Amino acid sequence: MSYSIPAEKISEIKHSADILEIISDAVVLKKAGRNFLGLCPFHSEKTPSFTVSQDKQMFYCFGCGEGGNVFTFVMKQEGIAFPEAVRFLAKRYGVVIVDHTSSPALKNQINERDILFQINRQAMEFFHHTLLDPQTGTSALSYLTRRGMPPRILTDFKLGYAQPGWNQLTNYFSGKSVALALVEKAGLISRRQSGSGYYDRFRDRIIFPIFNTHQQVAGFGGRVLDDSSPKYLNSPETSLYSKSRSLYGLFQAKPFCRQTGEVFIAEGYMDLLSLHLHGIQNSVATLGTAMTEEHIRLLKGVCQKITLVYDSDQAGIKAAQRCIELFRAYHQPEDIRILVLPEGHDPDTYLQQFGLEAFKNAANEASGVFSFLMDVAIKKHGLSLEGKLRVIHEMEGPLSTLTDGLTRIAAIKEIAEKTGIDESAIQEKLRENSPSRPLRAKPAEKAPDAGNKFEKHLIAMMLQFPEIIPVLIEKNLIEFISDPLLKSTGSDILACYRDLDNAPEQINDLPSIVLMAANNDEKKRLVAAFSIQKEEWGLEGCRKLIEQIERNQKRDNLRLLRQRMKTAEESGEQELLQQLTKECLDGQVSAGGR
Ligand code: GTP
Ligand code: MN
Repeated sequence: MSYSIPAEKISEIKHSADILEIISDAVVLKKAGRNFLGLCPFHSEKTPSFTVSQDKQMFYCFGCGEGGNVFTFVMKQEGIAFPEAVRFLAKRYGVVIVDHTSSPALKNQINERDILFQINRQAMEFFHHTLLDPQTGTSALSYLTRRGMPPRILTDFKLGYAQPGWNQLTNYFSGKSVALALVEKAGLISRRQSGSGYYDRFRDRIIFPIFNTHQQVAGFGGRVLDDSSPKYLNSPETSLYSKSRSLYGLFQAKPFCRQTGEVFIAEGYMDLLSLHLHGIQNSVATLGTAMTEEHIRLLKGVCQKITLVYDSDQAGIKAAQRCIELFRAYHQPEDIRILVLPEGHDPDTYLQQFGLEAFKNAANEASGVFSFLMDVAIKKHGLSLEGKLRVIHEMEGPLSTLTDGLTRIAAIKEIAEKTGIDESAIQEKLRENSPSRPLRAKPAEKAPDAGNKFEKHLIAMMLQFPEIIPVLIEKNLIEFISDPLLKSTGSDILACYRDLDNAPEQINDLPSIVLMAANNDEKKRLVAAFSIQKEEWGLEGCRKLIEQIERNQKRDNLRLLRQRMKTAEESGEQELLQQLTKECLDGQVSAGGR
């Protein structure tokens, strides 16, 4: 190949680019269930069948069969080849690609980023050892133990300790001949105001390293061991760390979020650790800032359901309201829930005091966004007639975001119940104020024609629920797929899955990795269609499908064997006949042996 864009760059661009944003420039998209629908730009149609999945970062047209990821879209739309599409997106998302044409200054900039990440990693190790070393870490260790944190959490989250004193870390790095100006750029030390030299930013604090989603150490948080202030100190905004773009614990939580389809979002470091400790590993924390659009983008594609966990105070309620506005663009309102803990508790204290079961019960009863806003509005306006009208008025905005008919009806019912105003009167009032909404057209779904039903299902399962792939490998199911296109797609998926070995957290990206690896258009379409198709996979459903496919394969094998036996019998090949009979019996024994 004549171009040389490194694979990590392609991956970085893929992670930065948002297919919805890119396609929205060219196509008007409307949310329809989990996906977005619009008129296909690649063939002429009157009812929308062009489907974009934001969580899968793919598109597929059920009308013409065109489909792919963000790169495929740009290639088709702009009429350019893959490397140009990569550069097009890199430019748009500010990803810097270094190659032989790049200036030395640019190359330096990239090298510097790598070096800063390395410095952060070394600092993390230094703090971690300081914590675990009894010579230096006893006070911090006993603080963490007092707060209920076992050794496992300390290692899973690489917690550390910065000793008192002004130059522990400064000395460590100068001892290793690392340029202190770079350590300063990483936000770990500061230049002295008077005199020369540097001093440590973090002193006498528990250290919480903050990873980005590529498992690089982007920054740190530090907590005092007593109640001096500031209680928490974070890395300054650097080229590697921005608090509006970091979610603490996301790197560790990602696979769990994907498994459960849900994430808990808390506010603090200790909350996050407690959630993990108690087995709620699908959790992240926002670190004292309000949720931002970037946070939501980080979570997109990881899972759809979101539970915001807040302390009971007013600030938490305000934050929750702000979030709802933000989430609207990316999530169905019914997927967002707000868990407000009893007065005086945060997730950490709640879990430590009442335990997992109590937390789970509370979480199960968490209000949906709509009920939550409703309760807030009622609290605010009261239930006098005047108040009720204000409440209804205030709920108009949130109601208009409910695209699903049933959810809308349920919401109106809820307003009626809570205000005691007749449903039809509420409907009436809403109709007065809202412009008529166009009905959503539902396209006839057309998936590529290939293979038999079960085999198609199997491939879709591999793409949508990759956790099951090890079972398929063990049972060697792919090798016996009869349809050639499906079989070759299955082998591609296995190959890509094996390549994930050094980055298992990317399992979420498997469909898009397979798509990039697919070597012809027919296969690309198939992968896009199967990845986007709406299906719910649970272990039970997978098990049944696998059993069915095994049965089919055995049946086909037996049929084949019988045919060969018949031929052998007719031509009098006794030895072959005997061998085939034995195989046939073995097959029947294992096929019927349950
Ligand atoms: P603990 O007291 O250790 O349980 O901490 P917490 O996580 O419960 O803290 P709190 O609820 O007070 O604050 C939530 C989050 O806000 C913290 O985890 C920090 O990320 C952030 N935060 C709190 N206090 C400060 C502060 O003084 N400075 C900064 N920069 N951030 C803070
Ligand atoms: Mn706390």
